[in-house]
Amino acid sequence: MPNPRMSPDPRMTIVEGDITRLEVDAIVNAANSSLLGGGGVDGAIHRAAGPHLLEACRDLGGCPTGEARMTQGFRLPAKWVIHAVGPIWRGGGHDEEALLAACYRSSLELAVQAQARSLAFPAISTGVFAFPKDLAARIAVATVAAFLTHDRSLEKVVFCCFGPDSVEAHRAALSVLT
Ligand code: AR6
Repeated sequence: MPNPRMSPDPRMTIVEGDITRLEVDAIVNAANSSLLGGGGVDGAIHRAAGPHLLEACRDLGGCPTGEARMTQGFRLPAKWVIHAVGPIWRGGGHDEEALLAACYRSSLELAVQAQARSLAFPAISTGVFAFPKDLAARIAVATVAAFLTHDRSLEKVVFCCFGPDSVEAHRAALSVLT
C-alpha cells in the first residue's frame, strides 16, 4: 500500500503583497552583505522603517552570505527585521542552493531566539540576485518545513510573494512536500 501523503505544516502560509505592511512579529529582509540598504525589498523595508533602521544596520558591521542579523523594526508594524543575505546566482555551481537554505535557517533561528511567534519571508535572492524562482521556492519551503518539524514556538511562517508567479512557485513547492 502507498504511504499516505502528509499535508504540509499548516503554520506555513502564502500571502501576495508588500512585506512592509504585514502585521507579524518579524519580517525578513533580502539584504546584501554590507547591510547598508539597496533596491528591491531592501529599499522598501528601509523606506517604511525610517532612517533609524540604517543606523542600526551600520552598527552590525555587515553579514556574510548565508547568514542573517536582526534589528528592531522601528516604524514598521513588525517588531523585528531579520536581515538575511542570500547568494547571488552564478550558474548553480557555487554553493548557491546550500547558501540560500542556510540564510532561511539562520533567519528562523534568530526569530525563535527573539521569541517571535510569526515571521514573514520575501523570496530571497530571486530579484536582483537572479536565483531561479522555482528552485528558490522549493528550497525556501523545504527548509522552513524541516525547521518546523522540530520547532513548536513559531505559530506562523508567511511566504510573502511579490506577484502571481511567485505565489505559484511557492504553491507548487508546498504541494510537493511530503
Ligand atoms: N515585499 C515583498 N517582496 C518584495 C517587495 C516587497 N515590498 N519588493 C520586492 N520584492 P530583491 P535579492 C520581491 O531584488 O534578489 C537589494 O538591492 C522581489 O519581487 O529585493 O535577494 C539588496 O540590497 C523578489 O521576488 O532581493 C541586495 O543588494 C524578492 O523580493 C539585493 O537587492 C527578492 O528580490 C538582494 O537581491
